[in-house]
Amino acid sequence: MASANPLPDSLRESPFLKACRREPTDVTPIWLMRQAGRYMPEYREVRSKVSFLELCKDPALATEVTVTAAERLGVDAAILFADILLILEPLGFDLEFAKGEGPVIHNPIREAKDVDRVRRLAEVEPLGYVMRAVSAIRSALRPSTPLIGFAGAPFTLACYAIEGGGSRHYEKAKSFMYRDQGAWDALMSILVDATALYLNAQAAAGAQVLQLFDSWVGTLGPDDYRRYVQPHMKRLFDKLDPNTPSIHFGTDTSTLLELQRDAGGDVIGLDWRVDLGDGWDRLGPSVAVQGNLDPAVLFAPFPEVERRARCILDRAAGRPGHIFNLGHGIMPHTPVDHVLRLVELVHEYSRTGRPERP
Ligand code: CP3
Repeated sequence: MASANPLPDSLRESPFLKACRREPTDVTPIWLMRQAGRYMPEYREVRSKVSFLELCKDPALATEVTVTAAERLGVDAAILFADILLILEPLGFDLEFAKGEGPVIHNPIREAKDVDRVRRLAEVEPLGYVMRAVSAIRSALRPSTPLIGFAGAPFTLACYAIEGGGSRHYEKAKSFMYRDQGAWDALMSILVDATALYLNAQAAAGAQVLQLFDSWVGTLGPDDYRRYVQPHMKRLFDKLDPNTPSIHFGTDTSTLLELQRDAGGDVIGLDWRVDLGDGWDRLGPSVAVQGNLDPAVLFAPFPEVERRARCILDRAAGRPGHIFNLGHGIMPHTPVDHVLRLVELVHEYSRTGRPERP
């Protein structure tokens, strides 16, 4: 089971882990969602030789892209290179990353009875390549750099399993959910159990923090979240190793923040549509906050990037527990130079210029 060994001081006292525990830090820690991705030439070089799924399933290559991104950027945490959809394969879904189309599930579930063919994840070995990547990354990273493991949250995974790919309105997933709550709850329960097993195995293999990506949950209003998602998220967070901090991230969640906080997570991820100060005021002092620069701002001239990043740090106002990040993943054509300068700027400004909260 999860990491019984206490962490070495260099990790435990790292700015990122301190911020997860809401302890004061000398500098605001920063990492970026999708920090290893197509905007980076080193990543494109590796990807020119293998498919995306081959890359995810090769622990040595996954280690190379994870560590290269973290070290090149000088960020305060590395994130495992993998994908939220990998877990669907051992549950019986036929997953493909089609060129130019994004992910496709060739055998989506559409009817209540289809839930019967979704397999339970009895053991984590079908995803053993991920745990082998986690331990290889942990050994290759600098000893003071924390490693983030992750998984998709059940709602977002269920959307892919039902829609068969990305979607704009999620009408298939929602009609499934509204038509037969029993079948929906059965599917969500399978996803909760599988995800808890998977995340705890990542922690045991060497991940210091676990992030849940509920990327598409913002398509729901608060009543639907409360009824169809929150009980499952609570059950999932209750199953996670209590010694490993967790980050609960979603997008378009400005009407759901309090409900997400009540579902669980030591850190709540904010997208860019909310003012970080207001969002944090609503969440209250019991959680740390991660976010929330609009990833599109990285395409602006650098002085604008700088102004917007400082604005976020000013809104955090030195409250302990802020982890700087984008509000969603880095986009493919983002200028690398702006990403590097953003990391420096956040470190520099938070170390010297950060105003204290009145
Ligand atoms: O953040 C990181 O650097 C770690 C790696 C990571 C990837 N995907 C690599 C990836 C993480 C944490 C994810 C999570 C993920 N995957 C999410 C949640 C985060 C989010 O963006 O909301 C989602 C929804 C997915 C599903 C997924 N994977 C999609 C929709 C796509 C296609 C997107 C696109 O731009 O093509 C992927 C593919 C993917 N996952 C790529 C990467 C680097 C691009 C694949 C390539 O090299 O062609």
